[in-house]
Parts: sequence; C-alpha cells; structure tokens
Amino acid sequence: MHRLREILKDKLNKDEISLVPSSFDIIGSRNGAIALIEIPDELYEKREIIGNAILKIHKNVKAVYLKKSSRYGIYRLRKLELIAGEQLREVVHKEHGISLKMDVTKVYFSPREATERLRIASQVKKGECVMVMFAGIGPYALMIAKKQPSVKRVIAIEINPDAYKYLVENIKTNKVEEKVLPVLGDVKDKSKKWYGCCDRVVMPLPKGAYLFLDNAFNVLKKKEGYLHFYTWSKEEELYVKGYFDLEKTAILYNRNIKIINLRKVLPYAPRIYKVCLDVKIF
Ligand SMILES: C[S@@+](CC[C@H](N)C(=O)[O-])C[C@H]1O[C@@H](n2cnc3c(N)ncnc32)[C@H](O)[C@@H]1O
Repeated sequence: MHRLREILKDKLNKDEISLVPSSFDIIGSRNGAIALIEIPDELYEKREIIGNAILKIHKNVKAVYLKKSSRYGIYRLRKLELIAGEQLREVVHKEHGISLKMDVTKVYFSPREATERLRIASQVKKGECVMVMFAGIGPYALMIAKKQPSVKRVIAIEINPDAYKYLVENIKTNKVEEKVLPVLGDVKDKSKKWYGCCDRVVMPLPKGAYLFLDNAFNVLKKKEGYLHFYTWSKEEELYVKGYFDLEKTAILYNRNIKIINLRKVLPYAPRIYKVCLDVKIF
C-alpha cells in the first residue's frame, strides 16, 4: 500500500505524505470493491485527492469511504463518508472460498479477521452442533459449514435486521441451507431454545460478549463443550479479564474450564488488542 504515498507525492507536501496511512481495507472482489480508509484530521481537506489516488491504484475499487467514527451501538456500525468514486454500498466479498454480500454502511464486517475465522472453523469436528452468537452477515457460520461439511448444525444468531437479511442470502448463495440456521433476534432470548444442545459456541462480540456467558454455558452440552470467547484487553494483561469472566461463570454453573489456546487476534487501539480465549468447558 506504500504505492499510495508514492502516487500522492506530487499532490501533497512532505508532512502530509507522512500522515497518509500505509494500509486500508478493501471489501469486495475483482468485479467491484469498496475501500475504507481512516485518515487523521490534518488530512481531511485532502480526502478527495487521497480517495482518487486509491481509485487509480485499485481498478476494481469503485468507491472510497472515509471512516468517520469508531464503531458504535449494538450493531457495531460506523459513520462513513464517500470521498471518491460512485455511490456503491453493496458488494460481494470473497474469503477462503465463501462469498459474503453486504451493504458496508448497514452491517459490521472486517476483512482483517479472515485468518481468525479460518482458525476457528478448522477446530470444528464432524457431527458437531455449533452456535455462532453475534453472527453478522455470516462469515464465521459460513466458514465453519464450508470447512467442516460434516458439521451437524450451525445456529447463527444476529440482532441487526439488515445483517440478518444478508446472512439469509449468503447462506443460500454458499449452498449451506441444510447446515446453517439463521436466527433473527437477541442472543439473550433466542439462544434459550438450544440450551444443552451445542458442542461449541463462538462469541465474536469483543464489546460485551461477557454479558452473554451465562447463555453460552447453558447452550453447551452438559458433558463437555468448547467456547471461543472474544474480548478487548490491555497489552500488559491480555487474557486476565477474559479468564476471570470465564472462571466466574464456571463457578456459578459448577463447571470446569481448561484453556486450549490464547490468541492475540488484532490490534484494536494503541496498546489494546482483540483477543480470543479458546476453552474447554466440562
Ligand atoms: C463485532 S460484530 C461481528 C459480526 C460477525 N460475527 C463478523 O465477524 O463479521 C457483532 C455482531 O453482533 C450483533 N449483536 C450485538 N448484540 C447482539 C445480541 N444481543 N444478539 C444478537 N446479535 C447481536 C451486531 O449486530 C453485530 O452484527
């Protein structure tokens, strides 16, 4: 992506060039993609120039949006401003053999988490019943169904009606209707139907997944099950709070926990990381 700085050399001064981010997200495919970029306030007046430079480098990118806020609200969306290209909002993103259609302004999606999704999917064994809480447009659920075709069932629960609409469509497009069950609603209520039924629960909501740990423990089969628990943590105590929350719930439900894997997924803010604790509950 340093090509962006290279191409902007004649249009911005040296100080400005040094502020141009070295990376940005591209969502979509060769047939049409959207770029999402974060730029510091000092470069706001130059946003159009930067957006047009991105269009020049990536011929498949039809629209460039500026990330104007952090993620907010239950749906984890962010404010976006179109800074170059056409009013394109809906694209199909390809990731490790799955297609994900979405409107980038209405749903959560991060292309940076593809490796993490693959990591989780590769742990799923034949015949498992898996619940993906906070399913979004379906990247975890679909990846699991594609990578482990012998999975028994994947229950995908999502509260944002727009994300749910794409989840349903993506299940069909990827031909996994037999395996993935989309559920619209709040995990707090909807998960109850599967209490005692699942071998594995995925909880990809770093902001607040701990508030749903009681549901997750109840959803897992009594004998044993696996939990993939996401949270944000400071660099110096990456897994402390997550482990504490898990242990607290385990005591409450008279269960045991064993850590299978601890993973620093992605940086979230300076010295803060999104982390995942993979644990066995028995
Ligand atoms: C961080 S996003 C992750 C989405 C998806 N798993 C992915 O990786 O792209 C969290 C998702 O959880 C949904 N969500 C938040 N609270 C929820 C709740 N109580 N019940 C169901 N879904 C919820 C949001 O709408 C959002 O789509």
